[in-house]
Amino acid sequence: MNHPAPVSAAPGAPIGIFDSGLGGLSVLRAVRAHLGQEPVIYVADSRYAPYGQRDDDFIADRTLAIGEWLVAQGAKALVVACNTATAQSIEFVRARLPIPLVGVEPGVKPAAALSKSRVAGVLATQVTLRSARFQALVERHANDLRVLSQPGHGLVEAVERCDIGSPELVALLRGYVQPMLDAGADTLVLGCTHYPFLDAAIRSIVGERMTLVDTSVAIARQLERVLDQHGLRSATASSESGGASVRLCSTSDGAHLRALASALLAIEAPVECVQIPSRRTRELEANAA
Ligand code: DGL
Repeated sequence: MNHPAPVSAAPGAPIGIFDSGLGGLSVLRAVRAHLGQEPVIYVADSRYAPYGQRDDDFIADRTLAIGEWLVAQGAKALVVACNTATAQSIEFVRARLPIPLVGVEPGVKPAAALSKSRVAGVLATQVTLRSARFQALVERHANDLRVLSQPGHGLVEAVERCDIGSPELVALLRGYVQPMLDAGADTLVLGCTHYPFLDAAIRSIVGERMTLVDTSVAIARQLERVLDQHGLRSATASSESGGASVRLCSTSDGAHLRALASALLAIEAPVECVQIPSRRTRELEANAA
């Protein structure tokens, strides 16, 4: 299909960052640290999380609707801060939006560079692990690496309710990670943007026996390159008064987004409750009525 005409957004316009829920805050944290002069609009689609249990069409439908909503809010670039949405829909959405997109994918390539035992675990959603994109990533970068793929059932739900360290959560994580340790894995890829918030809980199980691979800093660097390529870097210096503005938006009531942004990123901003209807959510609501 034809690519849409590019938007001539002003460099001072915000970056849109979107995730199925709160996980993209780990990417927002890296973007704030690396590109603190850039204003951001963050959308958590918590009303419809987790995406890991949705069908491919639903994920593509939501990613496009939220991308279009962010374009309408004036976003100059979009970070799809969700491995699941990237895996299923980035090409589809890229072809339909007039702004540059940056996606995220499990850090298989860095894991292949880091692992000494040549065994690495990948924790991600079921949708990400079964995607053609993930399979291609493993084929491209992990030829000589034994990759142990483990769906992290229940982990997104835990972070969505702000549970990042309860005994139940640690027991759930142990069930996923211990078999990897037993198989000799020395590297663990956090293949979902919710999981970096579980790093302390994972450390309490694996100690120093595993290197944890989180790609959020690499995503912030990639975003910087994309902004530079398109002449979209904000001109304002980052050293000024605590960085640029952040708008936090949620399709749910926003209470957990506010709590996690405050606790983990020290962002004290009110959360706007937004409605972003799409074809599939209209169908859901019509069926529920
Ligand atoms: N943060 C999303 C990801 O990186 C979670 C997906 C979900 O909602 O299941 O995949």
